[in-house]
Amino acid sequence: MRIAIINGPNLNLLGKREPDLYGNTDFESFLNHLKSKYTQVTFSYFQSNIEGEIIDKIQEFGFEYDGIILNAAAYTHTSVGIGDAIKAIKTPVIEVHISNIWAREPFRHQSYVSPVAKGVIAGFGLMSYELALMSLIN
Ligand code: DQA
Repeated sequence: MRIAIINGPNLNLLGKREPDLYGNTDFESFLNHLKSKYTQVTFSYFQSNIEGEIIDKIQEFGFEYDGIILNAAAYTHTSVGIGDAIKAIKTPVIEVHISNIWAREPFRHQSYVSPVAKGVIAGFGLMSYELALMSLIN
């Protein structure tokens, strides 16, 4: 089973960035944990701070992979292009967020990803990614 994880802007700073909100673990360490626990899954991981690069990867993974776990970060709330890219592909996309976006500022309640995602998981820290993975495996 092939699963892609795509992280959007500023998530390269996980572990250092606002740790009270996003935790102390960097994403690479967490990914290693997932890889050792879910050996039946082949993972691809991509992070970018650039909207167009994220769209390119959604298109690239979107016809060959079994699932995409997407944390579009701030682009969740602004990017019509990412929403359109998800509509254009065949692979199911699970939207994830580390924080509970609905418990935060009103501008974070808007998502261009949710209406075109298979499901949304938010607020469980890095475990949001693992819950999304479990839903795809099942
Ligand atoms: C986030 C929530 C977004 O609102 C924010 O811009 C992020 C991270 C999260 O994982 O909680 O960068 O997607």
